[in-house]
Amino acid sequence: MKRLCFIYLTSVLTAWAHNAPSPLMHWDCQKKFLKDGELVAQKGFNLKINSPLPEQKVAGIPSLGNPGKEAWIASQKVSKLQMPELALTVSSWISVDKAIPTGGIVGYFQDNGNSESGWVLGYDKEHFSIGLASAGNQRMTYLQGKTKYQTGKLYHVAATYDGSELRLYVNGKLDASSKDQTGAIRYPDQARLALAGYVDSNENFPHTGTIREVYIYDLCATDEGIAHEFDHGKSMTKESLKPTLAFEHEAPPFLQMATQNSIGVNWATTLPSTGTLFWGETAECKNTIPVTELDKFHHMTITGLQPDTQYFYRTESISQSGNVLKTNVSTFETAPEADSPIAFAIISDTQGNPKVAHKMATYAWAQRPDFLVIPGDLTSTGTDHTHWTEHFFPSMDVLIKRVPMYPVLGNHERNAHWYYDYMNLPDPEYYYTFHYGPAQFFMIDSNKKCTPGSEQYEWLEKELKKSQAKWKMIVHHHPVYSSDANDYGDLWKTNKSSRGDMNVRAMSKLYDQYGVDVVFNGHIHSYERTWQVKEGKVVQRGGIQYFVTGGGGGPLEEAGPSRPKFQNTVKKGHHYAMVRINGDVFEFQAYDEQGKLFDSLRYTRQQK
Ligand SMILES: [Fe+2]
Repeated sequence: MKRLCFIYLTSVLTAWAHNAPSPLMHWDCQKKFLKDGELVAQKGFNLKINSPLPEQKVAGIPSLGNPGKEAWIASQKVSKLQMPELALTVSSWISVDKAIPTGGIVGYFQDNGNSESGWVLGYDKEHFSIGLASAGNQRMTYLQGKTKYQTGKLYHVAATYDGSELRLYVNGKLDASSKDQTGAIRYPDQARLALAGYVDSNENFPHTGTIREVYIYDLCATDEGIAHEFDHGKSMTKESLKPTLAFEHEAPPFLQMATQNSIGVNWATTLPSTGTLFWGETAECKNTIPVTELDKFHHMTITGLQPDTQYFYRTESISQSGNVLKTNVSTFETAPEADSPIAFAIISDTQGNPKVAHKMATYAWAQRPDFLVIPGDLTSTGTDHTHWTEHFFPSMDVLIKRVPMYPVLGNHERNAHWYYDYMNLPDPEYYYTFHYGPAQFFMIDSNKKCTPGSEQYEWLEKELKKSQAKWKMIVHHHPVYSSDANDYGDLWKTNKSSRGDMNVRAMSKLYDQYGVDVVFNGHIHSYERTWQVKEGKVVQRGGIQYFVTGGGGGPLEEAGPSRPKFQNTVKKGHHYAMVRINGDVFEFQAYDEQGKLFDSLRYTRQQK
């Protein structure tokens, strides 16, 4: 029967849209077809839907959006015998509001290790795709289209398979084709038929966007048939759709730039919002600051505060459609007088390991630091939005909603606009300085030039020259000194290594010249403390203390086989550190992944 249909189709399908064959399955995604927690199929299987779905008109038809909370899965078991076998056409009218690496529109498949079977129409972060496995190939072909889709726009996305060729169509036109699969579609024994998500037995990535309509045929449509179907609805692709994203925090409120009488409160929402920042000396937060600018990113400053004082704050954000997002009350503390004792945490290179990063942030919070310093590589890939919204902010929230954080850019940030969108640091943001108690920090972007004559070198010289701070601290990502095995020459294969980053080594001349006390770096994912170093030589006193504290989560690295003279202590392992300063006393402690102290240092300025 299916083969007969296939023959029928290849001959008559030019009139597909006018005189279309009957689909095997069809979902018209409108609220009126939602009944008792199911989207009732026009043909085929009803889909289970547990959460409320937003609706908007597309070409005058009220269509369902999926806010990315759940995929719509067939409410009864679907056997592979009920799926198209010898030929397939799947077509859909959909929009993507959130570009994700593994997105699904509709599918019935398994893609687990060596077991690849079934098919899935979907998308990655930029393109639509069809994945399909056949009897003639043990692996699935993921055919990626060449059209780059725009979020928030409706597309006609379709795919066909006729037993010899897999074809993907976007807006009626052939977008990609492959002859890698041959013969009948190979199905898994067990799978779930799912719309609005990429779903197999061990993965479930819900779709965020509008789903207007989906068809499945056990026939292979021709190019003309697909083009015809598109023509009938192409006016829909011109419409601007309302985003279906759930109104949530992309970045829950976090603190930056505390002074004795002000603090920065930053947060970001998935949709543009206005709102209110509430604050006060009690948890009632009786004072308000209106957030009038409609934006996803909010950077507010509370002013008129008393030094060294605990305050409370919370936020309310309101989307354009009137949804309200409230946070629980949190706390902050203003900076103390210049002669006050301070303590701060250092967590670096959290990149791509939110589990460990969260552990470190939780340990650090338990020590009640005044603030957090991050020497770079907050994310694994700074250009990947999800690395901010799913890795960095959720893992650090426990700490940065209570204490201000002071980051610098690592190489993994890739200078991405997201860094600048989320942060609110003094211009130009990639370098800046701040004071806290007796310390002044000079925050440098070591991805940029640090050599004499460079913008940052000149700026730093000017700033160090005028600094009156008792303790001068430098923070940048790349280490001035490191005994790492292979970042500065492969010490397992040669005896040549620069033992540190030469760009910042050039800048360290200024550190010696202007009495810098301590330098904090990351980049190398292990721990290292130097002896005091002055002008490139180890000294007993009067030099600079260098630390590499890059163990916040990134994959671990290790030291080369022989000890350089600057090395005091080196350790492979995830960690965070605390620094405590009281007048002339400097204390430093490093803690491992179990929260146990593994290195410490205490000296007084007189001893220095
Ligand atoms: Fe790095």
